[in-house]
Amino acid sequence: MHTITLINGDGIGPEISDSVVKIIEKSGLDINWDIQTAGSDVIEAEGSPLPQRVLDSIKKNKVALKAPVTTPIGKGFRSVNVQLRKSLDLYANLRPCKNLPGVKTKFDDVDLVVVRENTEDLYAGIEEQIDVDTAHSIKVITRKASERICKFAFDYAVKNGRHEVCVVTKANIMKLSDGLFLESFRDVAKNYPQIKTREILVDNLCMQLVQKPSQFDVLVLPNLYGDIVSDLCAGLIGGLGVAQGANIGLDYAVFEPVHGSAPDIKGQNKANPTALLLSAIEMLKYIGEFAYADKIEKALFKTLSQGEKTCDLGGNLSTTEFTDKMIANLE
Ligand code: NAI
Repeated sequence: MHTITLINGDGIGPEISDSVVKIIEKSGLDINWDIQTAGSDVIEAEGSPLPQRVLDSIKKNKVALKAPVTTPIGKGFRSVNVQLRKSLDLYANLRPCKNLPGVKTKFDDVDLVVVRENTEDLYAGIEEQIDVDTAHSIKVITRKASERICKFAFDYAVKNGRHEVCVVTKANIMKLSDGLFLESFRDVAKNYPQIKTREILVDNLCMQLVQKPSQFDVLVLPNLYGDIVSDLCAGLIGGLGVAQGANIGLDYAVFEPVHGSAPDIKGQNKANPTALLLSAIEMLKYIGEFAYADKIEKALFKTLSQGEKTCDLGGNLSTTEFTDKMIANLE
């Protein structure tokens, strides 16, 4: 039996985790969930939003499924998500973005993958208050991290039959930092002559994505652009409720949706569990449970195609009603 760390998060996290755990259980796959709490709820008792036991659990089990955790804006603790990715060196954030059957959107030919660098850039957390009216934030880009994320993107393209990797920067303005990312991309690309390459500035990318997303295949981006562009891409396929993701390193992998803890709909039984479910399906493939991944994916596509949807997709089902429909469609 697999033992997998489950971080059920806060906000809508517990609602969508319950749904996904139930669906996996009803598919017939036995998983021993090592449940680990994190975030603001545990600070008082344990002194940290990301206690060492959470990291130890992932180190032991190697794989985790993670629901979103809130990060307060402004002063307060450092993001659990950023800390987790850095502590476990989960350097690649993989966010496939493809139309789902039954979810009608403006475009029906979106099939791209966002590969976001996950450990540095403006997320390095190096900020200083110069004076009361001035603050600095340092953007860190290293050759080592840039080369390994570009290599990850090209390896992913080769393994998954993709034909092009497009690097996204603002190297015309940030000549040194984004320039280094671009230079690393060009160096790595030399080892993959079978994959086409493309270079684009992030502002033009955003315009092109909302006009003709089908022209893109694999995108590789520094951390901040990757964060923003992946929400944009989520919008192309039906919104954050259906956008899956994974954080992958050499030793560990943490599967989590693109979206956050959605405090605006917390506790209302409204959240769409699909993004976490799709992340879990990728996790099942990662641990070699292809038959169960396939079974759950088929049930999801069938449910959506029947028009059974949560409010974010224009339907009227609650989280628990959608979960029940999904379970009924598991064959
Ligand atoms: P958000 O992604 O939580 O919500 C944005 C909008 O999308 C909201 O209107 C929300 O209701 C909707 N939405 C998100 N997920 C949904 C779902 N599964 N079903 C239906 N509707 C959904 O972004 P926001 O509000 O900017 O962030 C809230 C908190 O989440 C912040 O503290 C942020 O730092 C944190 N966050 C955590 C992440 C993580 O744990 N990996 C990732 C992104 C944000």
